Amino acid sequence: MCGIIGCVSKRNVSEIIINGLKRLEYRGYDSAGLAVIPDSGHKKSFHFKKTAGKISALETLINHADFTGTIGIGHTRWATHGIPAEKNAHPHFSCDKEVVVVHNGIIENYEELKEGLLKRGHKFSSDTDTEVVAHLLEEYIRKYSPLGSLQRVTRILTGSFALGVIFLKEPQTLYGARCNSPLIIGAGDGENFIASDVPAVLPYTRKIIYIDEGQVVRLTADKINIFGFDGHPHRALPTEIKWDIKDAEKGGYPHFMLKEIFEQPSAVESSISYYINSKGCGEFKSLANLKERIKKINRIVITACGTAWHAGLVGKYALEELCRVPVEVSIASEFRYGNPVLDNHTLFVAISQSGETADTLAALREAKCAKALTIALCNVVGSSITREADSTVYTYAGPEISVASTKAYTCQISVLLLFAVYLARLLGNLSSKKEKQLLKEIKTIPGKLKTVLKSSDEIRSFAHKYKNAPNFMYIARRYNFPNAYEGALKLKEISYTHAEGYGAGEMKHGPLALVDNTFPTVTIAVKSLVYEKMLSNIQEIKARRGIIIAVATEGDEYIKHMADDIIYVPETQEMFSPLLTVLPLQLLAYHTAVAKGRNVDQPRNLAKSVTVE
Ligand code: AGP
Repeated sequence: MCGIIGCVSKRNVSEIIINGLKRLEYRGYDSAGLAVIPDSGHKKSFHFKKTAGKISALETLINHADFTGTIGIGHTRWATHGIPAEKNAHPHFSCDKEVVVVHNGIIENYEELKEGLLKRGHKFSSDTDTEVVAHLLEEYIRKYSPLGSLQRVTRILTGSFALGVIFLKEPQTLYGARCNSPLIIGAGDGENFIASDVPAVLPYTRKIIYIDEGQVVRLTADKINIFGFDGHPHRALPTEIKWDIKDAEKGGYPHFMLKEIFEQPSAVESSISYYINSKGCGEFKSLANLKERIKKINRIVITACGTAWHAGLVGKYALEELCRVPVEVSIASEFRYGNPVLDNHTLFVAISQSGETADTLAALREAKCAKALTIALCNVVGSSITREADSTVYTYAGPEISVASTKAYTCQISVLLLFAVYLARLLGNLSSKKEKQLLKEIKTIPGKLKTVLKSSDEIRSFAHKYKNAPNFMYIARRYNFPNAYEGALKLKEISYTHAEGYGAGEMKHGPLALVDNTFPTVTIAVKSLVYEKMLSNIQEIKARRGIIIAVATEGDEYIKHMADDIIYVPETQEMFSPLLTVLPLQLLAYHTAVAKGRNVDQPRNLAKSVTVE
């Protein structure tokens, strides 16, 4: 997704903006630009540079002497309308160059707006939807104040937009606006910021104000004002960010993804310990006021996208096993257009690492309209989904920067498993003894994750051995079935190798036709209710000269006679095993992508948070 940063200060901002854009690179982008009102020069004007390609290319274009100014905005663009090219890079300007705009989102009515502007003589220099905002503001500013102009323009736009705007008429004022696309304020000391995400401003301030839907903000170096699109003033108090910028940096690892894979023991530990109280029982404080409503639910609907959806699939097994309540897990993009059956006895859970995924947010809104009880399971405090759900259960994975989700996934599963235990107790379906036994076992997981991580070098050797295989299959059953999807997704999204995840029992129903001696099948065959079934699947693949990479339970000597390569994980209850078996799949994908020279943290065509449909 695009990245926005703006700053109004008493010091030079050009370096601040460039560094902020660098901290937003993880969002994925194809071009970058910035505009500053330089201190020099008798007549106020914008100095700007923009370019296709990376921020490093933009830096070569900037002579900071020309860009010394105390107000500016910057942007990294992830193309939606208009190819990645200099002319389409942001910022965009009005005809008279008196208004500059950066934007994240999609303005769905831009074509009709552009048609009117062209008829009224405006000249466009790009193919983007964004540029219409600059020209509209140019018209409104003739009649209204900058604030009044921006409020009126936001009311005629449809779709999603986070905007950064500067008017030459007010050279020390930075504006922002938010509709269905994230934007925050960084409240500094003698300087203020707008940005798409916290890492961009964290080196300068920990005081963050999450701009709400339908708000316009006006910032000077010393003042922050917030208004509705309707012009009414709003108030908001800053949130103090607890984590450090180093958490959002690589810390010596070659890639964010490897760092985040290795952070999983501590991330899962943080997430687990938050929901187990001093008596060793599950406790979800954020749901305390909803207990009576939760007790009356007769159905659970989980909705998410991508990796978060896979976590939801694991949650289904545990919720149905422990709570005996039917659970449906749907892909958000299908749910929102599927005319779903919901009512006030439905518990709706939206899972999202970023809390900004457009499809998941839309599904949540659909559920709220149907009066379902809505809970967000999210990793970003103050994100859109958390602000719109009836309540939020957070994962404590820390910032996840790499496009490929890893630690958020294991934290989502951990919290879902804990929630299943908590809910089963609440519904009277689980004894205190059984609860304590399950919670005692889940507490062993962080240590077991550390054990699995020791296999990283061995897994790298497998990655090199199979890196030229054109296709992979991932198969598993029950609690580990979603990891077949997740392992395949990880390999696809960062190494660009085709891979499919399948329920192992489905092999005979078609996929077995694919098997030959060029075709590796990653098989999760840990000790479980379906272990023998998995051995049968391995045998049917080996009988057709297929290659087996098995994820197995430590001490399993038998599988050695069947698999070509084995990655062992410590034994645990089947319910908790997906937390362990996914690590080898993450590492296999990571090492394969590195072996193939891929851009691991920012894979082509992808973004960290898909804030548009
Ligand atoms: C996973 O590696 C991908 N980055 C992607 O599938 C991601 O899980 C999906 O876009 C959902 O994102 P969210 O959890 O932020 O909503």
